[in-house]
Amino acid sequence: MRHIMVLNPKGGCGKSTLATNIASYFAAEEQQKVALVDYDPQASSLDWLARRPANRPEITGVAGFEDGYKHLPRSADIAIVDSPARAHGPELTDLLNHADTVVVPVLPSTIDMQAASKFLDELKKSGKVQRKGVKMAVVANRVRDNTLIWDELDEYLAKLRVPYVAALREAQNYIRAYTRGLGVWELPEYLAWPDWDEWEPLVKWLKSKRSQP
Ligand SMILES: Nc1ncnc2c1ncn2[C@@H]1O[C@H](COP(=O)(O)OP(=O)(O)OP(=O)(O)O)[C@@H](O)[C@H]1O
Ligand SMILES: [Mg+2]
Repeated sequence: MRHIMVLNPKGGCGKSTLATNIASYFAAEEQQKVALVDYDPQASSLDWLARRPANRPEITGVAGFEDGYKHLPRSADIAIVDSPARAHGPELTDLLNHADTVVVPVLPSTIDMQAASKFLDELKKSGKVQRKGVKMAVVANRVRDNTLIWDELDEYLAKLRVPYVAALREAQNYIRAYTRGLGVWELPEYLAWPDWDEWEPLVKWLKSKRSQP
């Protein structure tokens, strides 16, 4: 079973937003059996799942923060893992040990960009990344066009030696979708098409060999 983990110790950068939308993508668009593993005791991903309408493709929730992968259904095709803020050191190593693919959301703010650089350096030093046992990519999140800081982020991300695969705009659709237990995939096309376009390179990467060790 493949494990895709959304990871960044910085709080509020969009881990749960990405994790729930990736889970919704594989369930609704790829008809896969998806487990959503929440390692954050705040349990935002599991709260989202509790809001999910019964007529939508099923996603199985796993309370990773309670007992790890113990209740991960063996029949799942793919596990999407949401992680807590402030994961470093042994906790980070433990999380990484279960990941095949890591997605790192970064906000266009100087503080977040600096913190992300340090975190990516920490990741690059981990044995698992050095053995190429995990593939990672960065996603810019909550981007507003034509802002100075966005230009800076774009430049910063291009310089990192980690693939920068997508930029997602700041949009009410993410809040709308979260509230209804859906992904932006499951919102009507007339509302969500700009977000679908932005997600395209990320899902393409996730489905390609480039994101798999
Ligand atoms: N692209 C976006 N557009 C608009 N709002 C967004 C977007 N991404 C995230 N948000 C909002 O930003 C807030 C933080 O996002 P989220 O909870 O996904 O971050 P997080 O990294 O999981 O936070 P934490 O570290 O607390 O777990 C939420 O209110 C979420 O709805
Ligand atoms: Mg979260």
